[in-house]
Amino acid sequence: MKNFLLSRIIGIIGVGNMGEAILARAIKDKAKDKRLSAKNFIIVEKDRLKESFVKRIYNVKIASDVKELVFKSDIIIIAVKPQDIDSVLDAINNALQICEEKWLLIISIAAGINTSYIENKISPEVKVVRAMPNMPASIGEGITALAKGHFANTRDLNVAKEIFAILGPTVNIEKEELIDVVTAISGSGPAYLFYIVSAIVAAAKGLDLDKETANKLVYQTMIGSMDLLSRHSFDAETLISRVASKGGTTEAALKIFKERQLNEIIAEAIRSAYLRAKELSR
Ligand SMILES: NC(=O)c1ccc[n+]([C@@H]2O[C@H](COP(=O)([O-])OP(=O)(O)OC[C@H]3O[C@@H](n4cnc5c(N)ncnc54)[C@H](OP(=O)(O)O)[C@@H]3O)[C@@H](O)[C@H]2O)c1
Repeated sequence: MKNFLLSRIIGIIGVGNMGEAILARAIKDKAKDKRLSAKNFIIVEKDRLKESFVKRIYNVKIASDVKELVFKSDIIIIAVKPQDIDSVLDAINNALQICEEKWLLIISIAAGINTSYIENKISPEVKVVRAMPNMPASIGEGITALAKGHFANTRDLNVAKEIFAILGPTVNIEKEELIDVVTAISGSGPAYLFYIVSAIVAAAKGLDLDKETANKLVYQTMIGSMDLLSRHSFDAETLISRVASKGGTTEAALKIFKERQLNEIIAEAIRSAYLRAKELSR
């Protein structure tokens, strides 16, 4: 698989936050075992300023339009906003009508766009994998859920897996409809944690700690605690019991969470995100 990817051209349509994150991790990251280089990429970007920035920083090929990108790519990553996807799919479809038959894999990261929507817009049958990364992908600490469409096989899924491993771990989702749950959990998840961080910082400031100290304490508490949780076989409940001693300070705080049913609030919020993801999906 490693050699397979090395000899492929990956076309990225839209190099905003996510498209650029892929380039940055694949080309610029010196700390990792680098498998891909600028030679593996071609991009098309609507925003001219962004396009010249990407050309200068990453030295990748720039396609004049989607048609040229389709002709030159083996794998296409669609990284535009969902509202821009129709024109991109039309352009891919038009290019494929005049393109020699070839192996092609389309990976879409557009939130809410089902693989069947893409398959229906493109003929002939096209291999599609849907990817749902999240924001920490920009520093290689994201998590990406992957689901394959009707015409993609396990090998295609593994190709997508290898590309997205650049941005952090990946998980395969068998039933694509569960991507709406993923969206509500890991897609929106960073914002939930930022919300909790900002609430704890505000509480610390309310108790007279200065902002800088509060930020430092809260950020490192989050990082260290999540690292601890992920390294051990203990679950969150077990670790809570290790921090909270009977009659102590942690227990006093947890009592308020339980009395106010914070778990119910979180469950309701996540369900609401899930329903919204379902509503927006097409
Ligand atoms: N950001 C996240 O945390 C995140 C997480 C999971 C999934 N996603 C998904 O990832 C996709 C990209 O998100 P993003 O945050 O990277 O968006 P973004 O920063 O807006 O990047 C998209 C880029 O594509 C360009 N573009 C639009 N139409 C184009 C076209 N026809 N040809 C070439 N370039 C085109 C846009 O240019 P203009 O700005 O000029 O329109 C923009 O520079 C979205 O569908 C989103 O749902 C994002």
